[in-house]
Amino acid sequence: MQPTGWAGVYREGRDLYTANSRPGERVYGETLRTADGREYRQWDPFRSKLAALLVRGAREPGPWAGAGSVLYLGGAHGTTVSHLSDLLPEARLFVVEKSPTSFAPLLALARRRSNIYPILDDAQLPERYSAEVGAVDLVYQDVAQRNQAAIFAENVRVALAPGGRAVLMLKVRSVSQRRSAEAIVREARRTLEGASLSISEEIALSPFAREHVALVVRR
Ligand SMILES: C[S@@+](CC[C@H](N)C(=O)[O-])C[C@H]1O[C@@H](n2cnc3c(N)ncnc32)[C@H](O)[C@@H]1O
Repeated sequence: MQPTGWAGVYREGRDLYTANSRPGERVYGETLRTADGREYRQWDPFRSKLAALLVRGAREPGPWAGAGSVLYLGGAHGTTVSHLSDLLPEARLFVVEKSPTSFAPLLALARRRSNIYPILDDAQLPERYSAEVGAVDLVYQDVAQRNQAAIFAENVRVALAPGGRAVLMLKVRSVSQRRSAEAIVREARRTLEGASLSISEEIALSPFAREHVALVVRR
Protein backbone atom coordinates (compact mmCIF):
# COMPACT_ATOMS: atom_id res chain seq x y z
CA MET A 1 0.00 0.00 0.00
CA GLN A 2 1.64 3.24 -1.19
CA PRO A 3 0.74 6.75 -0.01
CA THR A 4 -0.27 9.14 -2.84
CA GLY A 5 0.07 12.92 -3.14
CA TRP A 6 -3.62 13.27 -2.18
CA ALA A 7 -3.88 13.73 1.57
CA GLY A 8 -4.76 10.43 3.26
CA VAL A 9 -5.25 8.47 0.03
CA TYR A 10 -3.34 5.24 -0.68
CA ARG A 11 -2.82 3.19 -3.79
CA GLU A 12 -2.28 -0.50 -4.48
CA GLY A 13 -1.78 -1.07 -8.19
CA ARG A 14 -4.40 1.10 -9.89
CA ASP A 15 -6.84 0.97 -6.97
CA LEU A 16 -7.33 3.79 -4.45
CA TYR A 17 -7.86 3.22 -0.71
CA THR A 18 -8.54 5.16 2.48
CA ALA A 19 -7.47 3.98 5.95
CA ASN A 20 -10.57 2.49 7.58
CA SER A 21 -11.43 4.40 10.74
CA ARG A 22 -13.81 1.53 11.68
CA PRO A 23 -11.67 -1.56 11.11
CA GLY A 24 -13.66 -4.63 10.17
CA GLU A 25 -16.63 -2.61 8.88
CA ARG A 26 -17.65 -2.15 5.25
CA VAL A 27 -20.01 0.66 4.23
CA TYR A 28 -21.12 -0.34 0.72
CA GLY A 29 -19.63 -3.76 0.10
CA GLU A 30 -16.16 -2.41 -0.69
CA THR A 31 -13.01 -4.55 -0.48
CA LEU A 32 -10.98 -4.37 2.74
CA ARG A 33 -7.20 -4.89 2.73
CA THR A 34 -4.74 -5.11 5.58
CA ALA A 35 -1.16 -3.93 5.14
CA ASP A 36 1.48 -2.97 7.71
CA GLY A 37 -0.99 -3.64 10.53
CA ARG A 38 -3.59 -1.20 9.19
CA GLU A 39 -6.89 -1.81 7.42
CA TYR A 40 -7.80 0.04 4.21
CA ARG A 41 -11.11 0.41 2.31
CA GLN A 42 -11.05 0.38 -1.47
CA TRP A 43 -12.41 3.63 -2.95
CA ASP A 44 -14.25 2.90 -6.17
CA PRO A 45 -14.37 5.73 -8.75
CA PHE A 46 -17.48 4.15 -10.29
CA ARG A 47 -19.27 4.47 -6.93
CA SER A 48 -17.84 7.79 -5.71
CA LYS A 49 -17.41 10.93 -7.85
CA LEU A 50 -14.73 12.22 -5.49
CA ALA A 51 -12.61 9.13 -6.25
CA ALA A 52 -13.39 9.66 -9.96
CA LEU A 53 -12.13 13.24 -9.64
CA LEU A 54 -8.79 11.94 -8.33
CA VAL A 55 -8.42 9.29 -11.00
CA ARG A 56 -9.22 11.89 -13.66
CA GLY A 57 -6.39 14.09 -12.43
CA ALA A 58 -7.38 16.33 -9.51
CA ARG A 59 -4.61 18.52 -8.21
CA GLU A 60 -2.76 17.29 -5.11
CA PRO A 61 -3.22 17.34 -2.13
CA GLY A 62 -6.98 17.42 -2.88
CA PRO A 63 -9.62 19.99 -1.93
CA TRP A 64 -10.27 18.41 1.49
CA ALA A 65 -6.64 18.68 2.64
CA GLY A 66 -6.43 20.44 6.00
CA ALA A 67 -10.19 20.96 6.34
CA GLY A 68 -11.50 21.12 9.91
CA SER A 69 -15.14 21.19 8.83
CA VAL A 70 -17.10 20.24 5.73
CA LEU A 71 -20.60 20.91 4.41
CA TYR A 72 -21.62 18.01 2.15
CA LEU A 73 -24.81 18.44 0.13
CA GLY A 74 -26.53 15.31 -1.21
CA GLY A 75 -25.06 12.68 1.10
CA ALA A 76 -27.32 9.83 -0.10
CA HIS A 77 -26.39 6.61 1.73
CA GLY A 78 -22.97 7.95 2.67
CA THR A 79 -20.66 6.22 0.18
CA THR A 80 -18.40 9.22 -0.46
CA VAL A 81 -19.09 10.65 2.98
CA SER A 82 -17.62 7.50 4.53
CA HIS A 83 -14.33 8.02 2.67
CA LEU A 84 -14.19 11.69 3.70
CA SER A 85 -14.82 10.43 7.23
CA ASP A 86 -11.68 8.25 6.88
CA LEU A 87 -9.69 11.11 5.30
CA LEU A 88 -10.63 13.70 7.95
CA PRO A 89 -10.98 11.83 11.25
CA GLU A 90 -10.67 15.04 13.30
CA ALA A 91 -13.04 17.14 11.17
CA ARG A 92 -16.78 17.74 11.52
CA LEU A 93 -18.67 16.60 8.42
CA PHE A 94 -22.15 18.15 8.16
CA VAL A 95 -24.11 16.12 5.63
CA VAL A 96 -27.40 17.38 4.17
CA GLU A 97 -29.76 14.89 2.53
CA LYS A 98 -33.39 15.58 1.71
CA SER A 99 -34.70 12.08 0.99
CA PRO A 100 -35.87 10.33 4.18
CA THR A 101 -35.21 6.97 2.45
CA SER A 102 -31.54 7.83 1.91
CA PHE A 103 -31.30 9.57 5.26
CA ALA A 104 -31.95 6.36 7.24
CA PRO A 105 -28.71 4.58 6.18
CA LEU A 106 -26.83 7.89 6.47
CA LEU A 107 -28.03 8.21 10.07
CA ALA A 108 -26.96 4.62 10.78
CA LEU A 109 -23.50 5.46 9.37
CA ALA A 110 -23.29 8.59 11.55
CA ARG A 111 -24.03 6.46 14.64
CA ARG A 112 -20.89 4.45 13.88
CA ARG A 113 -18.66 7.36 12.80
CA SER A 114 -18.59 10.22 15.26
CA ASN A 115 -17.30 12.87 12.79
CA ILE A 116 -20.50 12.70 10.65
CA TYR A 117 -23.37 15.09 11.53
CA PRO A 118 -26.37 14.21 9.32
CA ILE A 119 -29.01 16.84 8.55
CA LEU A 120 -32.37 15.90 6.99
CA ASP A 121 -33.05 19.02 4.94
CA ASP A 122 -33.15 20.66 1.52
CA ALA A 123 -29.90 22.11 0.16
CA GLN A 124 -32.00 24.81 -1.50
CA LEU A 125 -32.72 26.26 1.93
CA PRO A 126 -29.32 26.74 3.60
CA GLU A 127 -30.77 29.27 6.04
CA ARG A 128 -32.40 26.30 7.80
CA TYR A 129 -29.07 24.66 8.72
CA SER A 130 -26.47 27.42 8.45
CA ALA A 131 -26.51 28.26 12.18
CA GLU A 132 -25.78 24.63 13.07
CA VAL A 133 -23.03 24.31 10.44
CA GLY A 134 -21.23 27.64 10.90
CA ALA A 135 -18.25 28.47 8.63
CA VAL A 136 -16.68 25.45 6.91
CA ASP A 137 -13.41 24.87 5.02
CA LEU A 138 -14.95 22.75 2.27
CA VAL A 139 -18.36 22.70 0.59
CA TYR A 140 -19.03 19.60 -1.55
CA GLN A 141 -22.20 19.29 -3.59
CA ASP A 142 -23.60 16.29 -5.46
CA VAL A 143 -27.33 16.87 -5.97
CA ALA A 144 -29.05 16.17 -9.28
CA GLN A 145 -31.08 19.37 -9.54
CA ARG A 146 -31.85 21.68 -12.42
CA ASN A 147 -30.46 24.72 -10.56
CA GLN A 148 -27.36 22.97 -9.15
CA ALA A 149 -25.00 25.88 -9.74
CA ALA A 150 -27.29 28.39 -8.01
CA ILE A 151 -27.79 26.05 -5.02
CA PHE A 152 -24.02 25.65 -4.80
CA ALA A 153 -23.30 29.39 -5.04
CA GLU A 154 -25.80 30.13 -2.28
CA ASN A 155 -24.43 27.45 0.08
CA VAL A 156 -20.88 28.65 -0.56
CA ARG A 157 -21.95 32.23 0.15
CA VAL A 158 -23.60 31.22 3.41
CA ALA A 159 -21.14 28.62 4.73
CA LEU A 160 -17.68 28.73 3.14
CA ALA A 161 -14.94 30.36 5.22
CA PRO A 162 -12.62 32.84 3.42
CA GLY A 163 -9.85 30.87 1.70
CA GLY A 164 -11.98 27.71 1.73
CA ARG A 165 -12.55 25.40 -1.22
CA ALA A 166 -15.67 24.01 -2.79
CA VAL A 167 -16.44 21.21 -5.24
CA LEU A 168 -19.50 21.11 -7.48
CA MET A 169 -20.26 17.75 -9.09
CA LEU A 170 -22.34 19.10 -11.96
CA LYS A 171 -24.76 16.58 -13.48
CA VAL A 172 -25.15 18.09 -16.91
CA ARG A 173 -28.36 16.28 -17.92
CA SER A 174 -30.23 17.37 -14.80
CA VAL A 175 -29.89 20.97 -16.00
CA SER A 176 -31.23 20.43 -19.53
CA GLN A 177 -31.85 17.48 -21.84
CA ARG A 178 -31.65 19.60 -24.97
CA ARG A 179 -28.68 21.98 -24.66
CA SER A 180 -25.09 20.90 -25.27
CA ALA A 181 -22.93 19.84 -22.33
CA GLU A 182 -20.47 22.64 -23.18
CA ALA A 183 -23.21 25.29 -22.98
CA ILE A 184 -24.44 23.95 -19.64
CA VAL A 185 -20.93 23.92 -18.14
CA ARG A 186 -20.32 27.45 -19.49
CA GLU A 187 -23.51 28.68 -17.84
CA ALA A 188 -22.56 27.02 -14.52
CA ARG A 189 -19.12 28.65 -14.69
CA ARG A 190 -20.78 32.04 -15.24
CA THR A 191 -23.04 31.50 -12.21
CA LEU A 192 -20.03 30.67 -10.01
CA GLU A 193 -17.89 33.53 -11.31
CA GLY A 194 -20.86 35.87 -10.83
CA ALA A 195 -20.81 34.80 -7.17
CA SER A 196 -17.13 35.87 -6.90
CA LEU A 197 -15.80 32.31 -6.94
CA SER A 198 -12.67 31.52 -8.89
CA ILE A 199 -12.63 28.18 -10.67
CA SER A 200 -9.31 26.37 -10.27
CA GLU A 201 -10.17 23.02 -11.88
CA GLU A 202 -12.73 21.73 -14.38
CA ILE A 203 -12.59 17.96 -14.81
CA ALA A 204 -14.93 15.67 -16.75
CA LEU A 205 -15.66 12.51 -14.76
CA SER A 206 -16.41 10.10 -17.61
CA PRO A 207 -16.23 7.14 -17.89
CA PHE A 208 -16.75 6.83 -14.12
CA ALA A 209 -19.74 9.19 -13.88
CA ARG A 210 -21.08 9.98 -17.33
CA GLU A 211 -22.15 13.52 -18.15
CA HIS A 212 -20.71 14.81 -14.89
CA VAL A 213 -18.18 17.62 -14.69
CA ALA A 214 -16.43 18.58 -11.46
CA LEU A 215 -15.74 22.25 -10.81
CA VAL A 216 -13.31 23.00 -7.99
CA VAL A 217 -13.47 26.58 -6.74
CA ARG A 218 -11.97 28.93 -4.19
CA ARG A 219 -13.67 31.80 -2.53
C1 LIG B 1 -26.13 11.21 -6.73
S1 LIG B 1 -26.79 11.12 -5.14
C2 LIG B 1 -25.41 11.52 -4.11
C3 LIG B 1 -24.35 10.45 -3.98
C4 LIG B 1 -23.36 10.75 -2.88
N1 LIG B 1 -22.87 12.11 -2.99
C5 LIG B 1 -22.16 9.83 -2.88
O1 LIG B 1 -21.20 10.06 -3.63
O2 LIG B 1 -22.15 8.87 -2.09
C6 LIG B 1 -27.72 12.60 -5.02
C7 LIG B 1 -28.41 12.77 -3.68
O3 LIG B 1 -28.82 14.13 -3.57
C8 LIG B 1 -30.04 14.16 -2.86
N2 LIG B 1 -30.66 15.46 -3.15
C9 LIG B 1 -31.24 15.87 -4.31
N3 LIG B 1 -31.70 17.13 -4.19
C10 LIG B 1 -31.39 17.53 -2.92
C11 LIG B 1 -31.60 18.73 -2.21
N4 LIG B 1 -32.20 19.78 -2.76
N5 LIG B 1 -31.16 18.81 -0.93
C12 LIG B 1 -30.52 17.74 -0.36
N6 LIG B 1 -30.31 16.58 -0.99
C13 LIG B 1 -30.74 16.46 -2.26
C14 LIG B 1 -30.79 12.95 -3.39
O4 LIG B 1 -31.83 12.56 -2.51
C15 LIG B 1 -29.68 11.93 -3.53
O5 LIG B 1 -29.57 11.16 -2.35
